[in-house]
Amino acid sequence: MRTVYWEDQKVKMIDQRLLPGELVIAEFDTVEGTARSIREMYVRGAPAIGATAAYGMALAAYNSPAWDRDGLLNDLRAAKKTLDAARPTAVNLAWATARLMSMAEHTVLPNVDDIRSALLAEAQALADEDVEINRRMGYHGAEVVPDGSNILHHCNTGALATVDFGTALGVVYACQEQGKRIHVWVDETRPRLQGARLTAWELMRAGVPMHLIADNAAGHLMRTGQVDVVLFGADRVAANGDVANKIGSYKLGVVARENGIPVYSVVPTSTIDLDLASGDEIPIEERGAEEVTHVGETQIAPDGAPVYNPAFDVTPHRYITGIITEEGICYPPFELSLRRAKEAAEARIRENRARRGTENG
Ligand code: MRU
Repeated sequence: MRTVYWEDQKVKMIDQRLLPGELVIAEFDTVEGTARSIREMYVRGAPAIGATAAYGMALAAYNSPAWDRDGLLNDLRAAKKTLDAARPTAVNLAWATARLMSMAEHTVLPNVDDIRSALLAEAQALADEDVEINRRMGYHGAEVVPDGSNILHHCNTGALATVDFGTALGVVYACQEQGKRIHVWVDETRPRLQGARLTAWELMRAGVPMHLIADNAAGHLMRTGQVDVVLFGADRVAANGDVANKIGSYKLGVVARENGIPVYSVVPTSTIDLDLASGDEIPIEERGAEEVTHVGETQIAPDGAPVYNPAFDVTPHRYITGIITEEGICYPPFELSLRRAKEAAEARIRENRARRGTENG
C-alpha cells in the first residue's frame, strides 16, 4: 500500500496520526485541506510531503474554474503558496510544487483541460519516481552496511515517510532483501514518537529484528560498542553537506563521532538544497507546546509550563560520513559530490519526461 496516492479526484493518504492503533485512509479534495494534512501531520516525512503537495497542485488545476492558460497559472501560483507554507523545513515540498508549476508554465499544450491532465500525470510520475528512487538509494546504502550490523535509526524514514519503501529504512529493507543479518535500534523520537509509533510498526510488519529504545539510551549503546552504523534521513541538506533532520539527530552525530561510528544521511536528491550555502540558513520549524507537555492524551507537565519545541536540528557536515542518494553515495567534499548527484538526477527527470512524452505520442 502506498502512503499517499490519487484516487477519485482526491488525494488519499494513511492518517499517520492514528498509527499504530488504527490504519485509516484520510482523503482531501481541496488545496487547503491538502495543506492542512501536511501541517497537522496526517502525512509527514520529507518525500511523502513532496508527493502530497504535487497531488495538491493537481487538485488546484482540477478545482480551478479558469478557462484560459493565464487564469489557470494564477490559480496554480496561489495553490503553490498555500502548500509551501504548510511546513518550512522539508525542501521536498517546495521542490515538488516548483516542478509542477514549471511544467505548467513551460507546456506547449494550448488547452487548459490538457494542462490539467498533464499536471496530474506529472504528480503521478513524481510519486512513482519516489518509489524507484528509494529502491536505488536503498541498494547504494546497503553497500556500507556489513552483514551482522547493529543499526541505530532516528525518527521514521520508511514507507510511511515516502510514497513507499523509504530512505534510511529503505537501506534496512535492501539489506533484508539481500539476506543480511541486521538489527535495528529504534529511537523512540520524542516528542511525536515517530520511532515508537511508526518505525517500530513498520519494522515489525516487515519482520526486521529490532529493539525500541528511549532516545536517551543511544549514547550508552554507542559507547558500549553496540552500534555499528547510524542511519537517518534528512528534511534538507545544504550545499556544504550540513543536514537538517528530526530533532535529536545532531546529538547522535556528535556521539557517533566520539565513538568512531560512521553516520550516513539517506536522502533523495530532491532533499538537497544547493541554494543554501550551509545549514545555518535552513529554516527550523517550531511546533506546538502540547507535543511536549502531552504524550497522546496524557498531560505530563504542569499546566501552563513554558515550552520551546524545535522540530529539527542541523548536524554539521563534519559529523556526516556520507550522504546516500539515488545517484550514489556522496562523500566530502560535499559541495562537489552533492552538485554532481543533483545534476545527474535532474538529467534523469528530463529523460523520463521525454520518454513519457514519446510513449504518449
Ligand atoms: O516531522 P516529520 O515526522 O515530518 O520528520 C521527518 C523526519 O525528520 C525524517 O527523518 C525526514 O523527513 C527524512 S525521512 C524520509
